Amino acid sequence: MSSGEGARFTLLGGKTALVTGGTMGLGRAIALELARAGAWVAVSQRWGSADRGELDACFAAEGVAPPMVVDADASAPEETRALVRRIAEARGALDFVISNVAFGRATQSLGELKWSTFEIALRYSTWPLVDLVQTIREICGRFPTHVVAVSSLGPESWYPGYDTLAAAKGALDAICRYLALRLRADGVRVNVIKPGVLDTAGSRRIFGRETIGKMRDRRMLTDPSAAARACVALCSGLLDGMTGQCLVVDDGASLMSDLALMAGDDPATRRSSDG
Ligand SMILES: NC(=O)c1ccc[n+]([C@@H]2O[C@H](COP(=O)([O-])OP(=O)(O)OC[C@H]3O[C@@H](n4cnc5c(N)ncnc54)[C@H](OP(=O)(O)O)[C@@H]3O)[C@@H](O)[C@H]2O)c1
Repeated sequence: MSSGEGARFTLLGGKTALVTGGTMGLGRAIALELARAGAWVAVSQRWGSADRGELDACFAAEGVAPPMVVDADASAPEETRALVRRIAEARGALDFVISNVAFGRATQSLGELKWSTFEIALRYSTWPLVDLVQTIREICGRFPTHVVAVSSLGPESWYPGYDTLAAAKGALDAICRYLALRLRADGVRVNVIKPGVLDTAGSRRIFGRETIGKMRDRRMLTDPSAAARACVALCSGLLDGMTGQCLVVDDGASLMSDLALMAGDDPATRRSSDG
């Protein structure tokens, strides 16, 4: 089901959400689904890569208000402070935080695996979540009720060129578990989503258009809207029995074994013989 289909609902009505890096790709899909569920949404960007008119039209097509767009580099604490202040001025406080920004340079060889490149991956992909949670508490006077970190299956897999990002995402998964327990008594839920590979500018940059095209042909890509709806579910209260957990949202792609593929039985495209 695409994001345009299905009923709009008011599960998150009156709530305030922030999606970092929410102007494009998965972040935009998450922002849109949160808005469709009734939340007021702010998104951040660093480079202004998205066409603002096209972004607004995308929200209008769903019959929801366009998001507040704020320029704020997720890796710069002073810009995060200004971002949270803007939202606090507009809305008082923040209920949901989706920490979506990640960045890491693709690693082509062992020689390229350096502390400096690992540090960049950590600065953009791991620490912003902690910085955001601390900053929101300081500026808004309370924590958000739900925190969702966007991780990936990189730490559990071997993705070509993904070395430093995989390690940074692994650290993100771990810090979320620790934050979840630290904030448990405050009623805060901290969870992680791990989408499969999506067709976005980010994945095309890391893995190449050709590889993403092959994955599309083999039906191995994840629908960004499906991953986005997992975020809505985590913020909805319906999953408040969960905290410190990782939710894999990949349409089963990561369960497909090499053995099945090598035996010529491609589970990605096979239909049930009963069907
Ligand atoms: N794509 C995949 O296959 C896949 C799979 C699993 C997990 N993920 C995760 O999903 C998240 C989003 O990935 P994506 O592929 O959707 O990325 P994307 O298409 O490259 O979009 C990135 C978004 O983040 C913004 N951005 C980039 N750097 C920023 C910064 N320093 N501060 C604030 N905003 C920034 C971009 O806007 P500007 O360029 O205008 O700043 C854009 O809105 C990442 O955490 C990624 O690891 C992706």
